[in-house]
Amino acid sequence: MTHPVIDDLRWRKTSKKYDPERKVSEDDLAVFFEALRLSPSSINSQPWKFVVIDSQPARERMYRTFERDHQFNRPHVFESSQIILFAYNPYYTRDDYARVIDQYIADSRIPAENRDKAFASLRFRDMNTDDTGYNGCWTKAQTYLALGNALHTLARMRIDATPLEGIDQVLVNEEFKQELDGYRCDVALAIGYHHVDDSNAKLPKSRLDMDTILLRI
Ligand SMILES: Cc1cc2nc3c(=O)[nH]c(=O)nc-3n(C[C@H](O)[C@H](O)[C@H](O)COP(=O)(O)O)c2cc1C
Repeated sequence: MTHPVIDDLRWRKTSKKYDPERKVSEDDLAVFFEALRLSPSSINSQPWKFVVIDSQPARERMYRTFERDHQFNRPHVFESSQIILFAYNPYYTRDDYARVIDQYIADSRIPAENRDKAFASLRFRDMNTDDTGYNGCWTKAQTYLALGNALHTLARMRIDATPLEGIDQVLVNEEFKQELDGYRCDVALAIGYHHVDDSNAKLPKSRLDMDTILLRI
């Protein structure tokens, strides 16, 4: 099959080793960050925060979080171009959604007199909120949509990436507590350009057969 979308998705392979000499340009970073911002989410809740690990001190802090586990991902801290923490708001409130609605009004998407009515969409949050106000399962799912969008965008831009569930969630959330400001990070993303010795770059793409995963009825 030939199609630009399929070409992009076949091109992208999770990087296992980065070329430390190659960094993503500021222009490309700006496009990537805007693509993150444009990610879709349930009721347009946007319950996320993206923390970009870029400076030397931030990398040193991230490096420390690998001291107990997932050392195979540790070299990316200094060799990749950036690592982005994908964080979600585990207690998404009505006030959080008010920011979205007020943005709708500012963007002339809804008139100000419809403000109260717009909160009806919060039903989708309520369906996923327990008695303590926790809705992290729902907000975390939204964050993975942003991750998927990020992977496709980066492939389009021919920038390599490594999704990282192999992080020490406890240490990452402790180390970046201040920046996360109540949000939780369970997954990160390294970006950059793969090294010539990247083992995965040479392997063929492998996926289950279409018949196994897709049912047309
Ligand atoms: C949510 C998520 C978490 C992942 N965590 C890691 C990780 O910690 N380290 C790693 O090397 N690869 C990680 N991967 C990469 C997957 O193993 C990889 O996407 C899968 O094997 C398919 O290969 P491909 O991305 O090269 O097509 C992760 C992928 C996803 C989507």
